[in-house]
Amino acid sequence: MGAFTVLGIETSCDETSAAVVRGQAPGPGAILSNVVIGQASEHRPYGGVVPEIAARAHVELLDAVVARALAEADVALGDVDAVGATAGPGLIGGVMVGLVTAKGLALAAGKPLIAVNHLEAHALSARLSKGTEFPFLLLLISGGHCQVMAAEDVGRYRLYGATIDDAVGEAFDKTAKLLGLPYPGGPQIEALAGRGNPKAYALPRPMVGRPGADFSFSGLKTAVRQLVKQRELTAEQKADVAASFQQVVVDVLLDRVYNALQQFRTEFGNKNQRTSLVVAGGVAANQAIREAFQALGAKESFVLELPPFSLCTDNGAMVAWAALERLARGWTDALTSAPRARWPLENLGNSHELPSRSVSDPLA
Ligand code: KG4
Ligand code: ZN
Repeated sequence: MGAFTVLGIETSCDETSAAVVRGQAPGPGAILSNVVIGQASEHRPYGGVVPEIAARAHVELLDAVVARALAEADVALGDVDAVGATAGPGLIGGVMVGLVTAKGLALAAGKPLIAVNHLEAHALSARLSKGTEFPFLLLLISGGHCQVMAAEDVGRYRLYGATIDDAVGEAFDKTAKLLGLPYPGGPQIEALAGRGNPKAYALPRPMVGRPGADFSFSGLKTAVRQLVKQRELTAEQKADVAASFQQVVVDVLLDRVYNALQQFRTEFGNKNQRTSLVVAGGVAANQAIREAFQALGAKESFVLELPPFSLCTDNGAMVAWAALERLARGWTDALTSAPRARWPLENLGNSHELPSRSVSDPLA
């Protein structure tokens, strides 16, 4: 089976992105271009992503972003083997913009369309960067998602645990807001935490020590709110809160992933083969989290796969790669494929088989 060249489009949140990727499973692939235009400055005055603003910005930016991605890759639209776009889950307005654009391009070029699940794109990003073989354990931590699962194959994921309330990136963003920091809060908290004492405040460690691999972060956020409400914090105290918060997040993630790892080893019993843990999603950009998993990896002898920063936050290259992996299996999608606000990763399979893929039922 030869290599494929795929154009990928990502518009499910506040990054407008298009990329051209070339390669074959299991990877690594070549990223010929990966143009990402962040909209953070447009959303910052509102302290979070405003869906209508995001959708309009995608409309305004996407054509030029696609043109630039093709030009930088030195690839003509007619030379790509398929056009992939995030079809969900995400903010529905933005998803519609990307998917409709991809349909138009696919139709114009006479190429297949691949409707990509955004979570699968994050999940497969380590195959694009490193060629990680299935099965692997996957921790997906982003602004909208917090889950740990076994990735058995393209389209086959087994969920071990997920958040019962806030996603971890959401906890970072909300805590940042409480401390008066601008959106997106993750990088702000990380920078502030570097100047603080992680032991300064005793914050709750939700779920730690409990069986299973579910997560919870809303109690932590509430504890920070109480702290902030009690008194006016000095700059030094704010740094201590950020450091204490980040330390709790690290502890919670390690505890939950440890349990998931035991479950993964029981189910996939790879005695001779080393277990790979992939940490993906925007929060995987956090250096304290990366270092904590490096240390756990050394202790528990698993191979830690951390996609580079540029592939951790939302980007078109991971979407192009997920589309490429599906194309290689002959899994293409109809031009009538519907955008979806919600679209869980479990048992994704060959998306053709999903009964909910109809225009009349876009939220299924
Ligand atoms: O994957 P992503 O770009 O978008 C979603 O699909 O959600 O993740 C964005 C999230 C935001 O919540 C942002 O605050 C968080 O990732 N984030 C971080 C860091 N960089 C981004 N959280 C903690 N530390 C960081 N360095
Ligand atoms: Zn994402």
